[in-house]
Amino acid sequence: MKKIVIAIDGYSACGKSTTAREVASILGYRYVDSGAMYRAVTLYFLDHHIALTNPKEISRALSQIHLSFHINKHGLNELFMNGINVEKSIRKMRISENVSPVSVLKEVRSAMVEQQRKFGKDKGIVMDGRDIGTVVFPNAELKLFLTADIQVRAFRRQQELLERDKLVDLNTIMANLTARDRIDSQRKESPLVKAADAIEINTTHITLDEQVDETVRLALWKMITKKG
Ligand code: CDP
Repeated sequence: MKKIVIAIDGYSACGKSTTAREVASILGYRYVDSGAMYRAVTLYFLDHHIALTNPKEISRALSQIHLSFHINKHGLNELFMNGINVEKSIRKMRISENVSPVSVLKEVRSAMVEQQRKFGKDKGIVMDGRDIGTVVFPNAELKLFLTADIQVRAFRRQQELLERDKLVDLNTIMANLTARDRIDSQRKESPLVKAADAIEINTTHITLDEQVDETVRLALWKMITKKG
């Protein structure tokens, strides 16, 4: 079957990453979490006190950041920055609270998009994010746009943070998701918008398994009917 590109975009904590990871594993595709890349850049900028108002400093910092994904012994994709596994540190609230202002910067976006396109050059990839179907892979064969009610998203994120790190108050999470949605949707450079040809899935009342099944079904259809 022909290999395709699957782009999954949508609001924060809609289950994009979990869906993308599962779908990639079922199809034997590569999975790239583009949000993790923006989170890693944010970690670097915070640790090195990079001024977000200084384009030269930003470009210099970006040239020092090398990102790569590696599969761990449990088959999960983990992000390494300059040879160090940053998977745990980039999921903390400190990063969630600072990532959207960093993701607004055009120097950051063009560096990340360039690398994301390299990851996808041979197709057979599932990538999730905010601008994958609109900017990174406008010709992706399958584009999904996930949405869900804010309360459900906040609750799901609370469970994830609890498993990974610690209990965070639901109102704090809700405020963070709302703020990020606003900044991500209103920014000038590649804002979060549904691509005209994306299929919208509201995940409020469906299970993860249903989300994954539906995505795999759509992907198989695209693979079977793909020309050229
Ligand atoms: O997992 P969650 O939905 O909370 O967010 P994420 O996918 O880890 O993305 C974190 C942040 O990175 C987003 O809020 C955006 O500001 C930024 N991002 C972006 O600008 N473009 C992307 N393609 C992916 C993420």
